[in-house]
Order: sequence, then structure tokens, then C-alpha cells
Amino acid sequence: MPAPDPLVAAARRARRNAVAPYSKFKVGAALLAADGTVITGCNIENATYGLTLCAERVAMFTALAAGHRRFTRIAVVAATAAPTPPCGACRQVLWEFGGNLEVILANLRRESGRHRLSDLLPLPFDRRLLR
Ligand code: THU
Repeated sequence: MPAPDPLVAAARRARRNAVAPYSKFKVGAALLAADGTVITGCNIENATYGLTLCAERVAMFTALAAGHRRFTRIAVVAATAAPTPPCGACRQVLWEFGGNLEVILANLRRESGRHRLSDLLPLPFDRRLLR
């Protein structure tokens, strides 16, 4: 078996920190900044449910808070046979701050797909439309 992509390995490690007592569905994400830094996130749930943050947004907001502004790839990991693609809210946020990222989906064993964010979010609403 080929060695896992280091970004996928980082997302698997981040998944272990997921705070998901309600859904029990743990997700990890690892975002690669243009300067090579890897920033990770995990999902964080809340008793109100609606305040839950997905792993992808935690990774992106953590990266932005640390001063990163340019990104190339994100890996998303869950322990399911079927891939876990970013939800609609995360697609919007990733597009706003990450542009046309490569999105790598994986589980604990293998990669299950690579996609461009523009394929996952066709016809996005973004700042260009605010003019
Ligand atoms: N979740 C993520 O963290 N990322 C995804 O791409 C899909 C869903 C989280 C949100 C919630 O904590 C749990 O998974 C179940 O929806």
C-alpha cells in the first residue's frame, strides 16, 4: 500500500480530537497553506446542535486567525466507507477564503477521491457579485 498523503495523515490525527458527543460522527480536516504550513481542524458540536462547527470550517478559521491567507489543498477524513464531502456551508467558506482548492476525501484506510472545489460548488455566490 502506498504511504498516505501527509495531509490525509494530518486529517486522521486531527479527527481524534473531534468533539462529537451528539452525532458520534467524528471528522478531521487538514488544510495546506501556500507556504507549506498544515493547519488542522475537527468538528465541534454543541448541545444546541445548530452551533456545531464542521472540521473544515474549524481548520479554515484557525488558519485565518494564525494569519494564513493562501491555501492549496484540504483533506477531509471520516471513519465511513463512503466519502464525507464538505457540507454546503463549508463549501461556501472554503471558496471565500481558499479559492479553487483541491479537496481530498479519505477514510481511516484509504483515499476515496480528489475534487476541485469549483466542481463541488458550481456557480458560487462570492465577492465578485457584490459590485
Ligand atoms: N461534519 C463535518 O465536520 N464535516 C463534514 O464534511 C460533514 C459533517 C460534522 C458536523 C457534525 O458534527 C457531524 O459531522 C454530523 O453531521
